[in-house]
Amino acid sequence: MVLSFFPTKGFLGTDATFGADLNLVVQLIMGTALIAGARLAKQKRYRAHGVCQTTVLLLNLLMIALVMGPSFHQQVKPALSKVLHKWYYEAATIHAVLGMTAELLGLYIVIVAGTNVLPGWLRFKDWTWWMRTELVLWMIVLLSGVGTYCAWYLAPFR
Ligand code: HEM
Repeated sequence: MVLSFFPTKGFLGTDATFGADLNLVVQLIMGTALIAGARLAKQKRYRAHGVCQTTVLLLNLLMIALVMGPSFHQQVKPALSKVLHKWYYEAATIHAVLGMTAELLGLYIVIVAGTNVLPGWLRFKDWTWWMRTELVLWMIVLLSGVGTYCAWYLAPFR
């Protein structure tokens, strides 16, 4: 974590930094919000659904910019050319690739669903399929993020 205005020590009693603990808690809350948001769509409350899922997507951009992006840049990238057999780097790399895919796919879905800026041939028709796929991918990313936290901060997994 590069942001110096955070306290350095985390609050979950592990070796994690404050930023990592905050990110973990925020990500778990956001995952729950996405599942609740999917239920809103099931109840045909599409406006509330759109607001809920878009808010999470944009808040996650902030978490990537403030916590996960800088961490990846500082801790993982320098080692990638040399090692890729230690769990520390593997977990974070798999997580970052899946995470970038989920975030970009989410932005694409929000642009198609919420605006008219894309031409017809770039717009999908089967909204349910795209949104379900995104939710499943997001949950996999969330799990791989928890896995990264374990690999980085919990002694038995290091
Ligand atoms: C798309 C949705 C994403 C979700 C749901 C997600 C979730 C999580 C969670 C729960 C953690 C554990 C808390 C922590 O250690 O900070 C984490 C850590 C991490 N994520 Fe993500 N993440 C996502 C996207 C990304 C992306 C796009 C990148 C790459 C730029 C990334 C890179 C990392 C790194 C390097 C860590 C370890 C950070 C640290 O502990 O300092 N994540 N993520």
